[in-house]
Amino acid sequence: MKKKLVSLLTVSVMTLSMLAGCTSGSAPAESTPDNTEKTEQTDANAGAEQTAEAVVESVGNADLADKKVGVCIYQFSDNFMTLFRNELETYLVSQGFSKDNIKIVDGANDQATQTNQISSFITEGVDVLIINPVNSSSAATITDMVVDANIPLVYINREPDADEEARWADNNWNVTYVGCDARQSGTMQGEIIVDLGLETVDLNGDGKVQYIMIEGDPENVDAQYRTEFSVKALTDAGWEVDCLDDQVGNWDQATAQQLVANALSAHPETEVVFCNNDAMALGALQSIDAAGRKVGEDIFLVGVDALTEALEDVIAGTMTGTVFNDHISQSHSAADAAIAYITGATNEHYIGCDYVKVTSDNAQSTLDSLK
Ligand code: GAL
Repeated sequence: MKKKLVSLLTVSVMTLSMLAGCTSGSAPAESTPDNTEKTEQTDANAGAEQTAEAVVESVGNADLADKKVGVCIYQFSDNFMTLFRNELETYLVSQGFSKDNIKIVDGANDQATQTNQISSFITEGVDVLIINPVNSSSAATITDMVVDANIPLVYINREPDADEEARWADNNWNVTYVGCDARQSGTMQGEIIVDLGLETVDLNGDGKVQYIMIEGDPENVDAQYRTEFSVKALTDAGWEVDCLDDQVGNWDQATAQQLVANALSAHPETEVVFCNNDAMALGALQSIDAAGRKVGEDIFLVGVDALTEALEDVIAGTMTGTVFNDHISQSHSAADAAIAYITGATNEHYIGCDYVKVTSDNAQSTLDSLK
């Protein structure tokens, strides 16, 4: 009884923090088309009788041992999604699934490959699908395939658009999305820079911040929002900005290394390098080193994810900061949602989480908490 109460309280706190996440920042109306809808969905679902966490506590582990889970990852070589999928598998096993019944496949960044993998899972008769789509724009097609086969579906990491999410609620389908609001991560990146003070960041003293932006996959809302909201945090603070270069690094370290090498040689006046993720920030750092520049002295660098190597750089002062993309809470929430569906309960159609700003103040404790 006590356990159930705690779990219901946890659910309420989660709901509140989702609302806070959705309303944070002062985004222009046109930038947040799906904000109101998410809040409404959350309210509408707040009274759902049995939510994922409550169900997980009340279901015996034995019930899950013979259930089959299909997991589709957009690309195995992605650093962050590797942390995510490993934690997902470990947690599913800890909840009572048999390792042999959890199949995780690599979409190799190709939607056709992934769509075939989904068809195979459907033919095999899995009990639930957890999908990190290659292209978010393919979500409607994926949803139709999976719903037609009467299999519950948990999307992770790459958020389908607002119209697609609305269909799940309108049709009362067992489909949900688990992820964090990328606007928050972008805002935190910008705040890390703003917190240093304009006099520190404006190295050439021209009253403006000269920056370069290295974007992830441009089809991905995480890349779009981080690009927009990191810079918005600077302009919201009243700073003038000057974009020297904006390139697509596809979340990849080696690609970003090359792009930043080119950008720094064309624009030695660069004061800030924004990267949509840490893998690309690590590539940027290699080029910053090669150009004989020093982070914290004559340039500033921020990423997102809090990969171990990036945290070590923040501790060493070779990266200005990062933003923790909580793969632990996201993978656990995705598994809890899958378990809820398997055991006949419902889920909200959007399950959120919060990012955490990481600077030299908390990089060590963040690293310790991940060990
Ligand atoms: C982001 C993450 C990136 C990359 C991307 C893949 O949330 O920050 O590093 O993994 O997801 O969609």
